[in-house]
Amino acid sequence: MRRKLVVANWKMHGNLRWNRTLLEGIVSGVRDLYHVEIAICVPHPYLFQAQQLLHGSNIAWGGQNVHPNEQGAFTGAVSAWMVADFGCKYAIIGHSERRGQFRETNETAARSIKVAIKAGLIPIYCMGETLEEYEAGVTEAVIASQLNGMLDTVGIRLLSHVVLAYEPTWAIGSGRTATPQQAQSVHAFIRGRVAHHDLKVAEGIRILYGGSVKASNAAQLFAMPDIDGGLIGSSSLDIDEFVAICRAANRK
Ligand code: PGA
Repeated sequence: MRRKLVVANWKMHGNLRWNRTLLEGIVSGVRDLYHVEIAICVPHPYLFQAQQLLHGSNIAWGGQNVHPNEQGAFTGAVSAWMVADFGCKYAIIGHSERRGQFRETNETAARSIKVAIKAGLIPIYCMGETLEEYEAGVTEAVIASQLNGMLDTVGIRLLSHVVLAYEPTWAIGSGRTATPQQAQSVHAFIRGRVAHHDLKVAEGIRILYGGSVKASNAAQLFAMPDIDGGLIGSSSLDIDEFVAICRAANRK
């Protein structure tokens, strides 16, 4: 049985004061939830603060990216070990904003996944089609190439240490969510592809949905058999919204 996972992706939002209010509010709001796993991925400069405020709670924390190299002359970049140094459990890898704005590819993401696992982190690998691809009806082909492109480098054996996320880019920050049935069909497709390689890994791997998840649609999405939780952007910046999403996932 896969345990549901809800991950906040703060993106480039926050400051010390605001973070404290948000983190303290969420900690007290989810204190009684035991069936869902919760994580908050903050901007790198705030990892220390997240560690201080979340330590001892039922919320894990993580980074939003790691560099594909272990160390070296990469000005401005952050390594998997640096993120792990602050007690992180997770790192988001290959988010569509990284792919689109920072030219990251399946191959760089795959290398980041490998170093993240080596550093003891659980990578959350994001896949998703653009609006044009969705309208052209090529969603499955796009997802298959993102999955295979990553698997070529990472290998099926390490995949059991990875969380997958399906995030159609047309649903990110747009207020337009995939319907539970649309998302379920892509999630089932992803699980099926993984099953081609290894049935056991496919059964155990968690596949999160991301893209305008809100308190009002979370329960229907999480009720789908292959949706194992969510990757939450905008709604993770609001205590009540995020706590309600975590509650919706807190089912046995
Ligand atoms: P959103 O972002 O919830 O604001 O759509 C999700 C994401 O980009 O991970």
